[in-house]
Amino acid sequence: MSEALIDIVAVSGHTGVSRWQALARRGSVAGVATMRPIILFRRGFLLPGAPAPRPGAADLSLYVEPAWRRRGIGSRLLAAVREQAVVPSLVIDVITGSPGEAFSLRNGFRRIRSSRHDLLTYGDVHGAWLGELVDVEHPGYRLVHWTGDPVGAPRAGELLRDPSRPGSAVLTAAETDGDLAAYVVAVVGAPSPRRARQYGPAVFAEHRGRPLGRWVNAALIQRLREIHPEVNEIETDTAENDLAMLAEREYLGFRPLRRTRLYELTLP
Ligand SMILES: CC(C)(COP(=O)(O)OP(=O)(O)OC[C@H]1O[C@@H](n2cnc3c(N)ncnc32)[C@H](O)[C@@H]1OP(=O)(O)O)[C@@H](O)C(=O)NCCC(=O)NCCS
Repeated sequence: MSEALIDIVAVSGHTGVSRWQALARRGSVAGVATMRPIILFRRGFLLPGAPAPRPGAADLSLYVEPAWRRRGIGSRLLAAVREQAVVPSLVIDVITGSPGEAFSLRNGFRRIRSSRHDLLTYGDVHGAWLGELVDVEHPGYRLVHWTGDPVGAPRAGELLRDPSRPGSAVLTAAETDGDLAAYVVAVVGAPSPRRARQYGPAVFAEHRGRPLGRWVNAALIQRLREIHPEVNEIETDTAENDLAMLAEREYLGFRPLRRTRLYELTLP
C-alpha cells in the first residue's frame, strides 16, 4: 500500500453536507472527511457561558482506515477540505489523548473546550430519593415542562412559550413570576433510542445560590422516565474546569464515561 496511489475526491453528500474520500487504486475507500453545519443546540453552545466557535463554523469529522494511518492521508483529506470549504472555521471533536488530538495539534487547530462526558443509568437511580429532590419546596419558583422539537435552536424561554407537542426534546425549567430562572434539556432518539443527551442545567446569574440546577435536573430525570420509558441512560458533558458542575453530576448519580476536546481551525 502506498499513499501515492491514493486519490482525494469530493463526493456528493446530503444537502449542506460535504464529503471527500481517499480512494485507493482498486476503488477501496481508505479515508473519509465529512463537513456539516454545526447544530449549535446539540453541541451545547447555546448554554450561557459556553465557549462558542466562530459564527458559521462547520463540524469536521475525519476517519482513516487503520491500515492506512500515519501515511499522510488524513492530512491530504484536510488539505482538500481547507482548499474547498467556504466557511470561516472548522471544528473537530476528539477523544482526549487520541491520534485525533495529536493530528489536530499538528495541523494548527486551537483548543476551545475540554469536556468530561458522564452517564447516568436509570438502574442506579433510587426513585424515592429522586422524588424527594423534586418535591423540595423552592419558594417563589415553580417547575414547568415542555416537549417538542427545538427547530432552529431557539432559546429555552422561546420554547416554553410554544405549546408542547410530540418531539425529541424534553425541557424542564424553574420559573419565577414568568421569568426563566434555570433550565435543562434532554434530547432523545439519536444516536441511540435508549440513550438521551442532556444539555445543562443552566441557572441564570440572578437566581444562583439556590440549588435550582439540582432541582430542574432531578425533575428532568424523573420526567424523561415518565414520557420516554424506552430511555434507560442519559449522557451529558461538562467543561473539565467546572468543578462544581462535575460534583453535581456525581451527586445525581452520573458516572464518568470519557474525556473529549473540541478544536477549531480558522480558515483564511
Ligand atoms: C486522526 C486520523 C484521521 C489521522 O489520520 P492519518 O492519515 O493517520 O493522519 P496523518 O498520517 O496525515 O498524520 C499527520 C500527523 O498527525 C499526527 N498524528 C497522526 N496520528 C498520530 C498518532 N497516532 N500519534 C501521534 N501523532 C499522530 C502526526 O504528527 C502525523 O505526522 P507524522 O506521521 O509525520 O508524525 C486517524 O488516526 C483516524 O481516523 N482516527 C480515528 C478517527 C478520529 O479520531 N478522527 C478525528 C476526529 S473526527
